Amino acid sequence: MREKKPLRVALAGCGTVGSGVGEIIVNRAGELAARTGVRFEVGCVLVSDVTRKREVPFPAEVFTDDPQALLASEYDLLVEVIGGTDIARTVVLEALAAGKPVVTANKALLALHGAEVYAAARAGGTCVAFEASCAGGLPIIGPLLRGLQANRVRSIMGIFNSTCNFVLTSMLDGGMSYGDAVQEAQRLGYAEADPTLDVSGGDTAHKLCVLASLALGSNIEYERIARRGIDRLQLTDLRIAREMGYSCKLVGIGRRLTPAPTGQPQQLYLAVRPTLIHCDHLLAGLSGTRSGVLVDGDVVGETFYSGSGAGSLPTASAVVADMIEVATGSAQATFNQLCVYNDCTPPADYVDPEEAEDSYYVRFSFAPHRRADMLADVDHAWRDNPVKRLQTHVSRDDHVVVAITAPVKPKLLGAAVRSVAGHLQLSDEPVMLPVLEARGS
Ligand code: HSE
Repeated sequence: MREKKPLRVALAGCGTVGSGVGEIIVNRAGELAARTGVRFEVGCVLVSDVTRKREVPFPAEVFTDDPQALLASEYDLLVEVIGGTDIARTVVLEALAAGKPVVTANKALLALHGAEVYAAARAGGTCVAFEASCAGGLPIIGPLLRGLQANRVRSIMGIFNSTCNFVLTSMLDGGMSYGDAVQEAQRLGYAEADPTLDVSGGDTAHKLCVLASLALGSNIEYERIARRGIDRLQLTDLRIAREMGYSCKLVGIGRRLTPAPTGQPQQLYLAVRPTLIHCDHLLAGLSGTRSGVLVDGDVVGETFYSGSGAGSLPTASAVVADMIEVATGSAQATFNQLCVYNDCTPPADYVDPEEAEDSYYVRFSFAPHRRADMLADVDHAWRDNPVKRLQTHVSRDDHVVVAITAPVKPKLLGAAVRSVAGHLQLSDEPVMLPVLEARGS
């Protein structure tokens, strides 16, 4: 392998992901050079506090807390792992304007300002690569940009947020409280600086926005993605879901509803919601920090990607992969050639989420003294209801009756459940969660 001239890197951010990048490119320099012909030299590192002790193998003199000093340093590639949309946006746009390629792990930046970032890269005659922005270490942007180009993607769905998956697994299997599990995810470096973004579904919506824009060929606006997080989920529903053969996960989904040709506005359904997933579904078995993405292409059918969705080294693995793509010229070639980025795709045409049909889990909770009659009461109250029940489950210990419905629009379901609940003496508001069945079940 002929080694190229070292590529000088300006690293913006040296937290969880940045330190992982440092560890890989310093400790594995020889191996990477032998395999790829690429060697990296980190000349400047932007941090918020230069006095803080860090476990990264960079000399003290490379650190600065001044974004302009980073941008004025001698570099060939900017790697942005700060996160957020303030300083990160400034350094990314200025580097691109100066014609420098950018590798970023920043899903919020791309979800909120993607078209601006891509246009700035084009104006600067350079490129932006962002494999690490979605689902950490598992490769998904690469397959969408390259392996699946022959397809018209019909849907993309997945578990995109490791913090939520970790929290739900820790509550159900580890007996942790919701608050303790969120704190543990923060301590282990999975959660965002503000974990509200994780648990409210915002981070999943950022990733869905980036991925669905690429996969479905539309310029999707983040704000148009309907979202609910895990912050109001109850342990009872996680347990009952398991009893019934389902896992409860935070799922992001983007689905094309009309077969419009590429280049035309697409009718898209986009949502982030806690969802019951049938145990035979590929996404159901992902626990802890594992993320997974299922892409349904019209030519290839379903393809599935899974791996560690967060954490220092898994995310840094994706960042370094992009750095190599930039160094070898592949990132630039892909960015120049493909018309799949938000600055060159048509705006999406959004389907009202209230109009999209799904099966639902509906839980009715009764006061303890009513538990002998619960099922008979629900059967009676449901008898003239237009919404069909596919199965009914009774948990006497929890004093609940759960119904799984046939596919129904949320609007119709809401009215039906209110009408049933009106005939029952419930101890709590009914809970409704969408259900994802395994294919063919
Ligand atoms: N907070 C994010 C997560 C980090 O938990 O998935 C990776 O994007």
